[in-house]
Amino acid sequence: AMAKVSFEVNGRRQSLEVDTRTTLLDALREHLKLTGSKKGCDQGQCGACTVIVDGRRINSCLSLAVMHEGDRITTVEGLGTPDKLHPMQAAFVRHDGYQCGYCTPGQICSAVSVLEEIRAGIPSHVSADLTAAPALTAAEMRERMSGNICRCGAYSNIIEAMADVAG
Ligand code: FES
Repeated sequence: AMAKVSFEVNGRRQSLEVDTRTTLLDALREHLKLTGSKKGCDQGQCGACTVIVDGRRINSCLSLAVMHEGDRITTVEGLGTPDKLHPMQAAFVRHDGYQCGYCTPGQICSAVSVLEEIRAGIPSHVSADLTAAPALTAAEMRERMSGNICRCGAYSNIIEAMADVAG
């Protein structure tokens, strides 16, 4: 069945009519031609499709477009532009946080969200004490980035880029 859905993408209101089975990733890529978000596995295992929805990162391949009525969605295209990179994008360039670049949009959306999660005190299981405020450590960042796979193996440079932005 077809259904209408309206949401905001990178600050712009979008109204679509989609098959109800359409994932958010396909709506972004195929309907809105925002091809920054990548499809690696299409089943929630690689993180290439990561976008930020109302401040939280999700795998857009695991979410149906029609579930996002009224949501505020940010893709990599909404973080920075070629002329004015987001600080995380600039840090990935400085630290060689990629090789082929396919996973990079998802890595960057995740990295931006991870620093916000840590600053907001959202716990992870890096510390045995789940009530302890998380710290901006490499271990904490590695754990939280574990859903974003990089087949080129740029992991250590990605963490360096994140640490640079975190200050
Ligand atoms: Fe969504 Fe791999 S394409 S997690």
